[in-house]
Amino acid sequence: MSEPLIPATVAFRPNGSPYSPLYGDIYHSVVGSVAQAQYVFLQGNGLPERWQGCPDFTVLETGFGMGINFLTTWAAWRADPLRGGRLHFVSVEKHPFSASDLRLTHAATIDDAPVAALAQTLANAWPDLTPGTHTLAFDDDITLTLIFDDAVTVLPTLQFRADAFYLDGFAPAKNPELWTPSVFESLGALANEGATFSTYTSAGDVKRALLHAGFQYKKIPGFGWKRAMLAGKYLPI
Ligand SMILES: C[S@@+](CC[C@H](N)C(=O)[O-])C[C@H]1O[C@@H](n2cnc3c(N)ncnc32)[C@H](O)[C@@H]1O
Repeated sequence: MSEPLIPATVAFRPNGSPYSPLYGDIYHSVVGSVAQAQYVFLQGNGLPERWQGCPDFTVLETGFGMGINFLTTWAAWRADPLRGGRLHFVSVEKHPFSASDLRLTHAATIDDAPVAALAQTLANAWPDLTPGTHTLAFDDDITLTLIFDDAVTVLPTLQFRADAFYLDGFAPAKNPELWTPSVFESLGALANEGATFSTYTSAGDVKRALLHAGFQYKKIPGFGWKRAMLAGKYLPI
């Protein structure tokens, strides 16, 4: 039996950034959330180029949060005439928002009109907050699989192969359980050939856990005020 689901509690910093009282960290900056997702997660994984011509392309994300990364990926996929056959976006979220809180956080942060339109479609399709897997379909070629569960326990049970990993589960100092060597080992076991990853953090423990699990990383400039972030590939020796 899965644990009872505890939804996210929505709160806002004085500057308007949505944050989590549970983790003491923000979901997204109030300014530039879409540009940040584009830079850190799309560009960090070589997208959209890497999905072009692929019959299927699968992204696995840790921490769906407000879904800004998903929405930004969806917008980029839609706008790409060379996109592949189908985008599978799988995201694991331990504390999902209710649909109404999702709308509130989107209204506070999304500063891009096409992404804002997709955000409404997502909120209208948002599933009940029951533990487990919820599959949503958008356009003719996007599947969003939301797994409302703890990534630590559910990742080792998953069975598919991912082409890109978006590692986005709050800062390691605030949420160390999501950045342990065993989480990275579970991600490595799910990596397709040539799989890439990116994350906004460049913490030393994360770098060591990545290497230990067979991921090679590069430290690259971060977005905005962030000095550095990590991106790389699954290349086990
Ligand atoms: C920074 S937010 C993610 C932002 C999100 N990717 C977006 O685009 O809006 C981090 C998310 O990780 C989730 N999270 C934290 N620990 C988790 C765990 N062990 N398993 C699954 N999700 C977790 C939090 O509930 C939160 O929603």
